[in-house]
Amino acid sequence: MIENMLVMNKLRILGTAFIVVASAAIISSCGDKRSTGWEYARNMYDPIAYNPDQPNKNFKNGQTAQVPPAGTIPVGFDGFFEYPNTIEGYEAAGVSLTNPLPAAPANLAQGKVLYQNMCSHCHGAEGKGDGSIIKQDKFPPPPSYSTGMSSRGGAVKDLTDGKIFHTITYGVNLMGPHRSQLEPSERWKIVMYVHELQKLQ
Ligand code: HEC
Repeated sequence: MIENMLVMNKLRILGTAFIVVASAAIISSCGDKRSTGWEYARNMYDPIAYNPDQPNKNFKNGQTAQVPPAGTIPVGFDGFFEYPNTIEGYEAAGVSLTNPLPAAPANLAQGKVLYQNMCSHCHGAEGKGDGSIIKQDKFPPPPSYSTGMSSRGGAVKDLTDGKIFHTITYGVNLMGPHRSQLEPSERWKIVMYVHELQKLQ
């Protein structure tokens, strides 16, 4: 009996302690809306290092986030493309540039996935110029890869490696450039898949 009462008392003390702590937490969080209340380990909020958006006296322009010096490139960058975004650059690429990747099934399969993600909403799954945004009348149809004519002359089905790569890199008229979205190797895989679509009837 006495033991039972001791257990009851313990529970009561624990319960009361809990209620006191909980109400203290609730009450301290009310009041001044702008106050952060009690803060645990304040120095975790104020890091020693500068935040990118913080003012910074160490730099002339007073900002922490700095633009990389002109002419610098990321480690491992292989995006140089020597052909300019002109009709001459397009023609020259068309003559002298060929796909550096082997025509392996894995490359073609990846090219298909990339094409479906990056191109098919305009060009259509089979490259007929009937992608989803065309069907919604939101965009004029691009020429079919197999039966259309290029705005730069000739049939689209005859476009060579270099011309397709140049087009993906810089875009043409209403088609935007894709050089910042697709690495050169990804563009070459897509070129491989576009060749497959050019053969469709
Ligand atoms: C926003 C819609 C859109 C997207 C996305 C798009 N294209 Fe195009 N594409 C066009 C249009 C429109 C044209 C016709 C432009 C012209 O010649 O006036 C075109 C033209 C082309 C041509 C023919 C170029 C030539 O020399 O005549 C090729 C090849 C091509 N696109 C490939 C691609 C590939 C590959 C992708 C994906 C990486 C892609 N396009 C993404 C709209 C798009």
